[in-house]
Amino acid sequence: MSHESEKIMKILITTPTGNIGRRVLVELLAPEFSVRVITRNPLRLPEEIREQVEIVRGSADDAATLRRALDGVEALFWCVPTESLQTVNVRNHYERFARAGSEAIREAGTPRIVTISAGGKGLARNAGSISGLHTMEEILNESGAAIRHLRCGVFMENFLLQAQQICEQGILCYPMPGHVAIPMVAVADIADVALRWLARRDWAGIMGVAVHGPEDLSYNQAAAIIELVLERPVRYREMPADGYVRNLVRSGASVHYARSLAARFAELRRGITRAEPRTPESTTPTSLTTWTESEMLHIAESLSSQSELVGSHHPSYGMKNFSRL
Ligand SMILES: NC(=O)c1ccc[n+]([C@@H]2O[C@H](COP(=O)([O-])OP(=O)(O)OC[C@H]3O[C@@H](n4cnc5c(N)ncnc54)[C@H](OP(=O)(O)O)[C@@H]3O)[C@@H](O)[C@H]2O)c1
Repeated sequence: MSHESEKIMKILITTPTGNIGRRVLVELLAPEFSVRVITRNPLRLPEEIREQVEIVRGSADDAATLRRALDGVEALFWCVPTESLQTVNVRNHYERFARAGSEAIREAGTPRIVTISAGGKGLARNAGSISGLHTMEEILNESGAAIRHLRCGVFMENFLLQAQQICEQGILCYPMPGHVAIPMVAVADIADVALRWLARRDWAGIMGVAVHGPEDLSYNQAAAIIELVLERPVRYREMPADGYVRNLVRSGASVHYARSLAARFAELRRGITRAEPRTPESTTPTSLTTWTESEMLHIAESLSSQSELVGSHHPSYGMKNFSRL
């Protein structure tokens, strides 16, 4: 073994309590890595993890904090947190983080970065967060680092935002036709791909890496799979975009945010994910059946037992309870 490969690798993780970041973090708690995290609230990390990592407190959209956090770091896991419902400019959200990141990475001379991005690069035009992520890629490409942008399919975890509606009304709905198939991927698979790149020292240059899940699925097919696993009727209903926007705004979203989500679905419907053709390398193992068994079934069971307790008096959630993603 060369001296270089024996050296402990220092890795900085952003969003260490996020969907992907927390999975990446636990896997890196091994003797060959030294893990640093950047977080606004260290108390959100489990105590046993806090004891094993270095913590830089602050926001990942602040270049000075990031610069400090990147000191001596060989590899950076870069994930821009999901924008909030109140965001008034989605593209700015991604640009703000990316500009701070790019400046800090350049100053620190960080050698390698693995980012969380989205599919559709080159085809997406005005696709809300997807376009924000593509702008992020371009800004980070100026940082001087070697980069792998993980261009992910739609997260299966988005279904959790509709779990209550699925269980109580048997309906899954988005502003998208039920027959259009898109890549759907479990965040655990994305974390695995990120880990493989983070742990290696033998790559250079800048590349997109598609992360597609096991197969493209339409929302009709997804509803049928969820129905089978949950053993209760689940039907997909396409929602008109303007109704979707109205409901989001009624539930507290900014008009801009609501429109950006509708635009994202319109672009997915247009087939932007064709930009990264499926390959054996982009195909990851966790099926929607397996994901539903491990991530949604227990929620459905606990919702059922709650509604049995409340009997027939449980509230009707109506369309207010639809998902934002
Ligand atoms: N949903 C999809 O279908 C999909 C598809 C493709 C790509 N993506 C992209 O994937 C990314 C989200 O990944 P994810 O779901 O793993 O992340 P996530 O769960 O949204 O990350 C949330 C974490 O970010 C941290 N955070 C929030 N603001 C922060 C700040 N200013 N500074 C530092 N940390 C901050 C929060 O931790 P603290 O509060 O503790 O700081 C929180 O735990 C987004 O960029 C999204 O566009 C999503």
